[in-house]
Amino acid sequence: MRKFGLIGFPLTHSFSKKYFTAKFEQLGLADHFYDLFEMESVDEFVKLWEDPELVGVNVTVPHKQNVMPFLDGLDASAERVGAVNVIKRQQEGLIGYNSDYVGFKRSLEKFIGENHPVKNAIILGTGGASKAVEVALADLHIEYQLVSRRATANTISYDQLNECKEKMQEVQLIVNTTPLGTYPKVDTCPDLPYSELSDKHYLYDLVYNPSETLFLQKGKAKGAQIMNGAEMLERQAERSWEIWNQ
Ligand SMILES: NC(=O)c1ccc[n+]([C@@H]2O[C@H](COP(=O)([O-])OP(=O)(O)OC[C@H]3O[C@@H](n4cnc5c(N)ncnc54)[C@H](OP(=O)(O)O)[C@@H]3O)[C@@H](O)[C@H]2O)c1
Repeated sequence: MRKFGLIGFPLTHSFSKKYFTAKFEQLGLADHFYDLFEMESVDEFVKLWEDPELVGVNVTVPHKQNVMPFLDGLDASAERVGAVNVIKRQQEGLIGYNSDYVGFKRSLEKFIGENHPVKNAIILGTGGASKAVEVALADLHIEYQLVSRRATANTISYDQLNECKEKMQEVQLIVNTTPLGTYPKVDTCPDLPYSELSDKHYLYDLVYNPSETLFLQKGKAKGAQIMNGAEMLERQAERSWEIWNQ
């Protein structure tokens, strides 16, 4: 038996379990199994690996950083992003990887295309997913401004952005890494000066449920190109599969 799973809390509806269960079925891998390991505290993490059949896991909120002290090593992707969302048991022990970075980068490249006009971006939110987006944009040579609920040395607040609407004309890409707009709170969205948007903007929402958040709807109404987080989700899952089999 080769066992896999997802660690997080809470784990109400999991894309990963459905995705991998369907994948194993499709590939005829009857000895592969993907389980949900709902854990409120990361203390339960070590016990999980007492099962010798456990090959690897995905990690989600709130443990993408909490698990790091329990690992024996980090792949360059996890080191750079500062968060782990894939773990594999290897000869050297438990190694952490970050596949959100790859999932976001590859889907963004497809969204904006080669020879894209994107030079400057805004990233909304400064949580775990935001870090993967930061590294991907840096690798694509796209400059970015972080927007947070509270201004800090390297972030501006939503109030500051609304007071300085011209900023919206200086950027071509806006990435939402906040959970705003996620089902069931579909009538919420980041507090932006949406009137400034036009067909020159690309709006990327990491949220994938619903497929068109209010943030994306407002951008679309102004002629912007839009993309949701479904492709990133699928690509990060595929990357996990590659990691576990390499
Ligand atoms: N498509 C994918 O493959 C994929 C992968 C990873 C994550 N995601 C999605 O991305 C979202 C963020 O995930 P995460 O792991 O980064 O979560 P997180 O660590 O909880 O961070 C989310 C950030 O959003 C901001 N935020 C939270 N609540 C907010 C509110 N009420 N109003 C305004 N801003 C708020 C906060 O930034 P500030 O404190 O700076 O305001 C927070 O740090 C989730 O919806 C998740 O499902 C999608």
